Amino acid sequence: MIDMDDMSCKTVIQEQYKNTDNLKVRKSLHEKYSVNKVGFQRWMFDQYPFRRKMKILELGSGTGELWNYYFENDVLRSYNMDIILSDFSDGMTDYLQHLFQGRGISVRKADIQHIPFGNGTFDLIIANSMLYHVKDIDLAISEVRRVLKKDGLFCCSTFGINGMTQYLYHALDELGIPCDHKSNISFTLQNGARTLRKQFAKVDRRDYTDALEIDNVEDYLEYIYSMASMQGLDRGKYGVLLDYFNSRKVNGYLHIPKEYGMFVAGDGGFDGCRRVR
Ligand SMILES: C[S@@+](CC[C@H](N)C(=O)[O-])C[C@H]1O[C@@H](n2cnc3c(N)ncnc32)[C@H](O)[C@@H]1O
Repeated sequence: MIDMDDMSCKTVIQEQYKNTDNLKVRKSLHEKYSVNKVGFQRWMFDQYPFRRKMKILELGSGTGELWNYYFENDVLRSYNMDIILSDFSDGMTDYLQHLFQGRGISVRKADIQHIPFGNGTFDLIIANSMLYHVKDIDLAISEVRRVLKKDGLFCCSTFGINGMTQYLYHALDELGIPCDHKSNISFTLQNGARTLRKQFAKVDRRDYTDALEIDNVEDYLEYIYSMASMQGLDRGKYGVLLDYFNSRKVNGYLHIPKEYGMFVAGDGGFDGCRRVR
């Protein structure tokens, strides 16, 4: 099992995200088996307070899935917003560049801990499901604060400790497979607001209600083996895990709780920031 102190170690994370493969495996599990059919990305996208001529930066964009909803919306596309997607991985930025070439969205390589833009540049900064991978989260958030305009907003999503992670750790414990419960918990729905409040006067937490109902356990095992924190998990345990999770099915489905949500952070004045579509 990977030493979880390594979880924010650049080489582990760089290896995990050297291309889109691992991320796509995990996204497809959510797409296929989530009970809430709105979808987490759509739910988040609908809350961003877009307005005309806005300058937007997304950090750790991965496959850029969020922006599918932008291209579906003619009104938003008429807003003349300046949108920059970024990631610290060459594999991801190459993918994004290819995907968005000539479509009015720019792509930059950027580490959230050293954002390559000047002070007070952006109205909205987005960082989804990535802060828990970052070695120095305080530095990352101070960089976000620096490049955000005074009245700008920072929206970042993460998971909670009562969802999929806890479910998996419980299973591994029952099977006697060693795992470090501290993995990835540096920025969660439970502790994220405390960290954000060091830089922002106001932090609002919003939760997305969902769960997984899985009939094909092999899809779940592919998800587990794709995780950065599970890179040390022995492939020889595959059969044991398959039997264990199959035995946990009720009425043909494995029920796995999810706890996901987002924070909206700024220096006040965003009570009405939910966008009206
Ligand atoms: C779990 S994926 C999330 C992707 C996307 N935001 C989403 O919600 O689907 C995490 C992404 O953050 C990127 N990442 C990790 N550490 C980073 C850092 N220090 N700076 C910028 N990007 C980083 C990874 O390369 C990966 O694409």
